[in-house]
Amino acid sequence: MDPRLEKINQAAAYVKEILDNEGLAPKIGIVLGSGLGRLSDDIENPVTIPYKNIPGFPVSTAIGHKGNFIVGSLAGKTVIAMQGRLHYYEGYDMDMVVLPIRVMKVLGIEYLFVSNAAGGVNMSFQTGDLMIITDHINQIPNPLIGPNLDEFGPRFPDMTRPYDPRLIAMAEEIGKEMGLNLRKGVYFACTGPTYETPHEYKYMRVVGADAVGMSTTPEVIVARHADIPVFGMSVITDVAHDPEDTDYVTDGEEIVRQADAAATKMIALFKGLIGRL
Ligand code: HPA
Repeated sequence: MDPRLEKINQAAAYVKEILDNEGLAPKIGIVLGSGLGRLSDDIENPVTIPYKNIPGFPVSTAIGHKGNFIVGSLAGKTVIAMQGRLHYYEGYDMDMVVLPIRVMKVLGIEYLFVSNAAGGVNMSFQTGDLMIITDHINQIPNPLIGPNLDEFGPRFPDMTRPYDPRLIAMAEEIGKEMGLNLRKGVYFACTGPTYETPHEYKYMRVVGADAVGMSTTPEVIVARHADIPVFGMSVITDVAHDPEDTDYVTDGEEIVRQADAAATKMIALFKGLIGRL
């Protein structure tokens, strides 16, 4: 057996045994980005499974991230939330970065919700804005490189609709009802861990990006490979700045604070959407 498959199955079996004992079968996977982890506080009757207890899983280290699966009820549905994701910049190989997504697939999720804190590339964006991700530009190594895992999906997956149009339309409707001023746009994923230089921001704008971050696309690629519909949202935590602005700095702690402030709106939207699935 492919050693990756063995690892996925072993981790999934460990989680499944815990969930079976609790009578939980999650239908929706949620990845919580930097500063957005408190959505898990809204999960009712939560069962917490620390990554460090799961065979083959590492411990997440990024700022604003914990390392747990939280399983329980949200808006009437059973969800499995990742409180903390694994980033390529932490030094994990791509198989590790996407392992939790494949474990959730084996556990039977039918939808994946992804969230992140992102820099605003679009000059009209403001700190605290929420952006529905409509497409992405991936500049992190593709997690599907290597022998294809045929059990999950095809060698050459279609990526014409990486983010589910039906979920996007529903989110826009719910956003209107809630009076949220939602943005829509393209997410540019780079490895980090450096934030962007002024001219990297400019370059991203030229190629059509609206927001930039260091995550999400590996998870989305692997979910789409496995035919899971995806809904993605960026919380804009800092904005592109003029190359002439000599005082500007991008500060990681400030980004987590901004994400936390905007999290309330994002959580309301996720709950509204999940309630309608
Ligand atoms: N760049 C990259 N990643 C980020 C940013 C940014 O400006 N803000 C939050 N995550």
